[in-house]
Amino acid sequence: MFSKYKKTSATPPAAAPEKAPAADVAAVTPAAAPGVTRKAPQKAAAQVTPMDKERKRKERMGEIKLDLHRVLLDNLNLSALEHATEQDLRQEISAISSEFLEERSIVLNREDRQNLTSELYDEVTGLGPLETLLKDETVNDILVNGPQQIFVERAGKLELTDVTFKDERHLLRIIDKIVSAVGRRVDESNPYVDARLKDGSRFNAMVPPVAVDGSLVSIRKFKKDKLGIDDLVQFGAFTEEMAAYLQAAVATRLNIIVSGGTGSGKTTTLNALSSFIDNAERILTIEDTAELQLQQTHVGRMESRPPNVEGKGEVSPRDCLKNALRMRPDRIIVGETRGEEVIDMLQAMNTGHDGSMTTIHANSARDGVSRLENMIAMAGIEMPLKAVRSQISSAVNLIVQASRLQDGSRRMTSITEITGMEGEVISMQEIFRYQRVGLTPDNKIIGHFTATGVRSNYAERFRMWGYDLPPSIYEPIAAE
Ligand SMILES: Nc1ncnc2c1ncn2[C@@H]1O[C@H](COP(=O)(O)OP(=O)(O)OP(=O)(O)O)[C@@H](O)[C@H]1O
Ligand SMILES: [Mg+2]
Repeated sequence: MFSKYKKTSATPPAAAPEKAPAADVAAVTPAAAPGVTRKAPQKAAAQVTPMDKERKRKERMGEIKLDLHRVLLDNLNLSALEHATEQDLRQEISAISSEFLEERSIVLNREDRQNLTSELYDEVTGLGPLETLLKDETVNDILVNGPQQIFVERAGKLELTDVTFKDERHLLRIIDKIVSAVGRRVDESNPYVDARLKDGSRFNAMVPPVAVDGSLVSIRKFKKDKLGIDDLVQFGAFTEEMAAYLQAAVATRLNIIVSGGTGSGKTTTLNALSSFIDNAERILTIEDTAELQLQQTHVGRMESRPPNVEGKGEVSPRDCLKNALRMRPDRIIVGETRGEEVIDMLQAMNTGHDGSMTTIHANSARDGVSRLENMIAMAGIEMPLKAVRSQISSAVNLIVQASRLQDGSRRMTSITEITGMEGEVISMQEIFRYQRVGLTPDNKIIGHFTATGVRSNYAERFRMWGYDLPPSIYEPIAAE
């Protein structure tokens, strides 16, 4: 049996894994002072499932799998596997498992047996426990906090899964497999890595000792069909009126910054906005990890690169941007501005590459402007603050704020125009906003989008370019 892929020389069996630490969840409830009442804490978004029968069964299966996995690794010639067809390999694995189970007189039902084979297949060829989560279409993000805790984000909510790694070594092996496939390394001296998986998903890992309780992994799954403007309107991320305004803003080449927190939907918004760009334009995109999916024909994509293990070969976003300016772009889209590239970005926006777009990490339009100021200061540019601000105010026309609200919904909570300078201060006017009015008993946010009543500074420009928006879109909606 398993002759074709069997190793010619036996390797010593792997050392026994350390025992996985049990999840230790202790709740501390201090006594309340007399007369003080507090809202009952919300139900935790995710709870560790109690040890029950099902869990025991899973543990037993886990142990069988681990032993079997070791037998497989000892017996399979891994380099010959590269050429094996999926069917061959599945058959081989199933044959080895049957033999193993028989030898130990372990009886499993058909379903368990099939699951075992397919999990082992994932283990040998793919990313082990992560594989099922990566295949699950409803999962957006996968967040691993050490071997025993894997969270996923579904529909904006974080949930604890019952998927686990056997131990830290198992987790490290999978991390190593992922990063070595993209030519990177992660170990004690190089404890973190940011990479793009083969399928386009964004991957970040940090290993011990920097990661204290076991390796930390975050995966933002690549979606083939990114959410478009229509999807976002349908999901209630913004209204049809806001979409019409944004279309006019993009088509008439305003410089736009999408601001937002982590995972608030910045890249999704940027991608959706790009659909308003005319197909005849030459667009260059610069990203750390290529995520944008532009629909236009004429698109040049660039991906910056961190230094290699010897500290060489770095191509920074700024390098890409400087080069992009020599490549005759009509528009430049920078996935995220977070460092010294801000200087070149603002200059590009100021000097003929209008209609450029980027995202920044900030919680409001005003905060976004401060972030830009800080980035300029950090880049070592010695300029009086007023000059910095005037540079920003003449470069940026619009700040679109993306937010992930506490109920997990993602919304465009504000669209703000930068109108110029008043003394030392950058002046802005909000055109649309999301007005929160309350919370339902099950903690869903109640609110609505409204215009602020301020007419766009660019209304005339929009009209001249053929985007004659009706004045009614600027009228506020009266609160119910
Ligand atoms: N309005 C929305 N409704 C539902 N899901 C959304 C919405 N906007 C974004 N998402 C989903 O949320 C996830 C995070 O979105 P996205 O990558 O755009 O966020 P980000 O702000 O760029 O994150 P990061 O800070 O990590 O770069 C994605 O899986 C995306 O498909
Ligand atoms: Mg992003």
